[in-house]
Amino acid sequence: MRRILVAGNWKMHGTQAMVKSLLEGLLAGSQPGGNVDLAVFPPFPYLAQTQALLQQSPIAWGAQNLNPVAQGAHTGEVSASMLLDFGCRYVLAGHSERRTLYGESDADVADRFEAALAAGLEPILCVGETLEERENDETEAVVDRQLTAVLDRCGVSGFQKAVVAYEPVWAIGTGMTASPEQAQAVHAFIRNKFDSLDDIIAGQLRILYGGSVNGSNAADLFAREDIDGGLVGGASLKVEDFLAIRNAVA
Ligand code: PGA
Repeated sequence: MRRILVAGNWKMHGTQAMVKSLLEGLLAGSQPGGNVDLAVFPPFPYLAQTQALLQQSPIAWGAQNLNPVAQGAHTGEVSASMLLDFGCRYVLAGHSERRTLYGESDADVADRFEAALAAGLEPILCVGETLEERENDETEAVVDRQLTAVLDRCGVSGFQKAVVAYEPVWAIGTGMTASPEQAQAVHAFIRNKFDSLDDIIAGQLRILYGGSVNGSNAADLFAREDIDGGLVGGASLKVEDFLAIRNAVA
């Protein structure tokens, strides 16, 4: 049975004081056990603080991006081994904000996914269509192209220790959550694609939904057959909102 993963992507938010109170609140408020894993994705400067606060806890953490090069003259960049040095388990690859604001191509995303796997990190590959693409009936083609770029590079076995997050761009930060039916349809499409390559990996693969998940819509989303949790932005910045999502898991 796939465990639910509720992952909080803090994006470029936070202060040391906020990190302390948020993580202490999560530690105090999240009951261990059940079929749910929690993870947080702070900005790079707060990874050390996150590690110090969470290392004896069941809450995992990861980074929002990485540079695929191992080390060297790359001013301003952070490598996979640096993330491991701070205890990261996960790293996001190809979040739509990286793709649109920072020009990451499908090939760049595949580079990051591959480097994360090689280092022993679990990449969370983010895919999803824009509103225009959905309206043009291109959702499946876009998601397929984004997945294929990584599958061609790393093979289906690259997803043995990885997660996929379906995040329709039009739902991110807008309050316009995809309906459970809309999300399930794309999740099923994704799982079928993996199933045609390796049914065991497809059955184990966690596919998260992201885009305006909150405490009121999480239960309906997570109840769908192929939705294995959420990648949460805005609602991950407040203890009670994030815990409401965690507690929505049946
Ligand atoms: P949101 O962000 O929950 O604020 O829509 C989700 C994400 O970008 O991962």
